[in-house]
Amino acid sequence: MSKNSLSITDNRTGKIYEVPIENETINTKYLREIKINPTDLGLLTYDPAFVNTSICKSTITYIDGDNGILEHCGYPIEELAEQSTFLETAYLILHRQLPTKNELDKWINDITLHTFIHENVKKLMEGFRYDAHPMGMFVSTLAALSTFYPEAKLIFDEELRRKQILRLIGKVPTVAAFAYRHTKGMPYVYPDNDLSFVGNYLNMMFKIAELRYKPHPVLEKALDILFILHIDHEQNCSTTAMRVVGSSHADPFSAAAAAAAALYGPLHGGANEAVLTMLDQIGSINNIPQFIKTVKDGKGKLMGFGHRVYKNYDPRARIIKKLADQVFDITGRNPKLEIALELERIALQDEYFIKRKLYPNVDFYSGLIYKAMGFPTDFFPVLFAIPRTAGWISHWQEMILDPEQKIARPRQIYLGSQKRKYTPISRRG
Ligand code: SDX
Repeated sequence: MSKNSLSITDNRTGKIYEVPIENETINTKYLREIKINPTDLGLLTYDPAFVNTSICKSTITYIDGDNGILEHCGYPIEELAEQSTFLETAYLILHRQLPTKNELDKWINDITLHTFIHENVKKLMEGFRYDAHPMGMFVSTLAALSTFYPEAKLIFDEELRRKQILRLIGKVPTVAAFAYRHTKGMPYVYPDNDLSFVGNYLNMMFKIAELRYKPHPVLEKALDILFILHIDHEQNCSTTAMRVVGSSHADPFSAAAAAAAALYGPLHGGANEAVLTMLDQIGSINNIPQFIKTVKDGKGKLMGFGHRVYKNYDPRARIIKKLADQVFDITGRNPKLEIALELERIALQDEYFIKRKLYPNVDFYSGLIYKAMGFPTDFFPVLFAIPRTAGWISHWQEMILDPEQKIARPRQIYLGSQKRKYTPISRRG
């Protein structure tokens, strides 16, 4: 009868160790028992970038990268994008169940009551140059929010914790919009709580002189779907940052600022901005073969392609590609879409990309839609951070309530100088 375990023979000592297999993983604590001398530390694992390491148990999001599957609490992303809303999906990933009508109405009302930010935040924003990158402003302001809500440090007070969760989800659109208005030198637009979550966000971004902003229903719905698609993605770089910083019991605003900083990177949430820059550089369909050659020569990456987990088409990219047509019917077709479509067609037939299982990811088409909707390119990472804040805060809460979790403190392999005596400066060189 086969046993759900590994038998590891240490050839240095001839000893055999039985290591149980749980959830298709082995707990590395058993490796510490494998040692030559009783006083040895025992074996550690070495896994730079955690490519092959599970850092937690979670019930929020499931990804099957080989088959291009993404589910939130068991609900396929395709069904949530088709039938749910961003706030309902945010409720789902925080409570692990879809809300009843009353629960959803209360949830929406509670978040709506937290859309305003302290007036001092405007003064904080005034400190940024007109050309400050909006993601830099977003990261800084998220951290600053922790100073306005000192009770956020009481992370084990359930009622206060829920209040910070509502504040973070409710306020990030306002912070984002204020950052945008600052870069444009335009007056801040306060939340209009009679609008939907996304409608109000568009209001705070784009309202000019009209008495009341009326979001275009097709664009409002398209952005709501984009927010659903970006809400969570298990242990991506920024969510892991949220968990690691949160593991020291820092307040959730400070942890979210760290997560947003991770998302800022061009390999992560900055990729959709990099895709637009790449399409600008390619310039026309005729230049695609030459660009593909430079990528294959290792002189650059095809931004918006590839994924650490998806070795198949990112299901979110498929949905976004369909959404593009609906948006372009309203805004007019983005000419770069033709370059993107041809780039995808060529890449998916090219052995270099096939061999490395590189497919379009969530960032490949999203930037084209954002651009068509009037968002500046450098604002795209902020559009990723707004919905992903709900994912970050859901993982943060799961982590601090997980009895198996404690402060993150990995080990290392030391390959530096061995012990040596201090040399006075007069005798150096
Ligand atoms: C997001 O983790 C998440 O879930 C993230 C995310 C989320 O929702 O949170 O899904 C959002 O961040 C999507 C990814 C957006 N980033 C990009 O589009 C940037 C371009 N992509 C790559 O930088 C890369 O694909 C990563 C960073 C996304 C994944 O990198 P991995 O898993 O570390 O893979 P790798 O760098 O080891 O690549 C394996 C091979 C390498 O070639 P060889 O050294 O084997 O010859 O594939 C090549 C890489 O050079 N490769 C690419 C490529 N991505 C990988 N070659 C050209 N173009 C690319 N885009």
